[in-house]
Amino acid sequence: MDSILILDFGSQYTQLIARRVRELNTFAEIKPWNGDWRTLLETAPEDDPQGRQWKGVILSGSPFSVRDADAPNLDLKGVRGKWPVLGVCFGAQWLAQNGGGEVGASDSREYGRAHLAYIDTSNPLFSGMTEGKAVWMSHGDTIQSAGARAQITCSTEDVRFAGFVLDEEPTWGIQFHPEVYHSEEGLTLLQNFVHSICGCSADWTPAHFVDTTVSDLRQKLGEERVVLGLSGGVDSSVAAMLLHRAIGDRLYCIFVDNGLLRKHEFEEVLEGYEGMGLNVKGVRAAEQFYAALDGISDPEGKRKAIGATFIDVFDHESGLLEDVKWLGQGTIYPDVIESVSATGGPSATIKSHHNVGGLPDYMKLQVVEPLRMLFKDEVRRVGREMGIDAKLLGRHPFPGPGLGIRILGEVNAENVKLLQDADRIWIDKLREHGHYDRVWQAGAILLPVQSVGVMGDERTYEQAVALRAVSSTDGMTADWVDFPHAFLAEVSNAIINKVRGINRVVYDISSKPPATIEWE
Ligand code: XMP
Repeated sequence: MDSILILDFGSQYTQLIARRVRELNTFAEIKPWNGDWRTLLETAPEDDPQGRQWKGVILSGSPFSVRDADAPNLDLKGVRGKWPVLGVCFGAQWLAQNGGGEVGASDSREYGRAHLAYIDTSNPLFSGMTEGKAVWMSHGDTIQSAGARAQITCSTEDVRFAGFVLDEEPTWGIQFHPEVYHSEEGLTLLQNFVHSICGCSADWTPAHFVDTTVSDLRQKLGEERVVLGLSGGVDSSVAAMLLHRAIGDRLYCIFVDNGLLRKHEFEEVLEGYEGMGLNVKGVRAAEQFYAALDGISDPEGKRKAIGATFIDVFDHESGLLEDVKWLGQGTIYPDVIESVSATGGPSATIKSHHNVGGLPDYMKLQVVEPLRMLFKDEVRRVGREMGIDAKLLGRHPFPGPGLGIRILGEVNAENVKLLQDADRIWIDKLREHGHYDRVWQAGAILLPVQSVGVMGDERTYEQAVALRAVSSTDGMTADWVDFPHAFLAEVSNAIINKVRGINRVVYDISSKPPATIEWE
């Protein structure tokens, strides 16, 4: 399989480069610039576990300046001239500086949209592109010269070296970010690089992925048995379907009702899974989770209690199965990329996501993760390819600790019931009014306050819920969704009239950053 290697210098856009290349149906993989990637390039496809044949290298952007004393500095001998290389932003500046050119602080820093006033369309990287289109810039330094072997390929009004190519070497640098959606012809440029210059074929399709993954899984697992925890979400469901296609009923799925799911979710999801032919055991364990949560109101404390209880329940259930050697997991690519953090150290933990990191060692199972190389949108495409219900594939993300982190303060059965009722109305209304699919994630949050109200002639002193709905692409940043007031009024009325115990509804108008999507 023809593939592109992306060397990551820690840019916020590196994952986007890989996603965009894959949108062109060519496989791309990210490696940290200071990691072990050289032997990979030398590996022949027949010896490569994934059959990858490397055809080109992209150097990402970076929060560093090439002028920083501790800036990344890599050795590309053995790569340059052999594989086509495309340096983006920092990558381009690095190529310029290492080619005898000069990079300096810019008089006019360029952030945001700029326009390519000049393009050399005879250069294959720019084939089919037109002058005057917007490109996305995000740099403080500028390339003043790129060395004696460099020819300018494009310029903006302010920056002469917006792009360059080296004489007699298939190496290009571009100062802008073609992977960012605001770069109007960015995908054309990437396509020129990946397909025309590197000569990659466009065979990374969902159908190809399903075929090769199923046959790899058959080979890897042989006659052995696998246990997998289903969550009702897209990733674990698609992982289960791939494993099921490979080994049929030797896949045992466990779906745990932790008492923190949405209203009727356990029954509805279980029914859906059975309809998909999966071998699933539904385990009702709400009481065990509520007992573990008793007296805990700290968010991280709740996550730990929920995570630990899940492991206990899952461990017990899988212990009842005979002769299971493998644990299936729905881990996806963003969870496994060894990212290069801006500070060079590990990035700070803002919230501990218990479902990343898996189960404890003592379970002694080998792990099989069929979605390890996929981005979320690719998981959905694969699910569609396998005929999984569109409603399941289009589900909003839902956190592993569920409503436990949407009930501020202590969690108990009554609070859960109250929130489930309000949340159900909110989600049903979003669907009814055609908003569900344009929202990335939505939910209701039960607030630990009581406030005064009047209902009829009676004074009430009841709880408040906050409604949250955000648009996002990956949950890293998010904007609150601006709904018509009449719609919000309808939801608020429905919740207050139908859910006894709630007399006030507020709508969260905070974006991330700084406000995280979940309140806890
Ligand atoms: P935040 O609240 O960090 O959420 O903006 C970003 C995304 O992550 C989900 N999330 C979690 N998922 N376990 C999970 O499985 C967790 O503990 C957890 N906390 C947040 C959140 O729902 C959103 O999609």
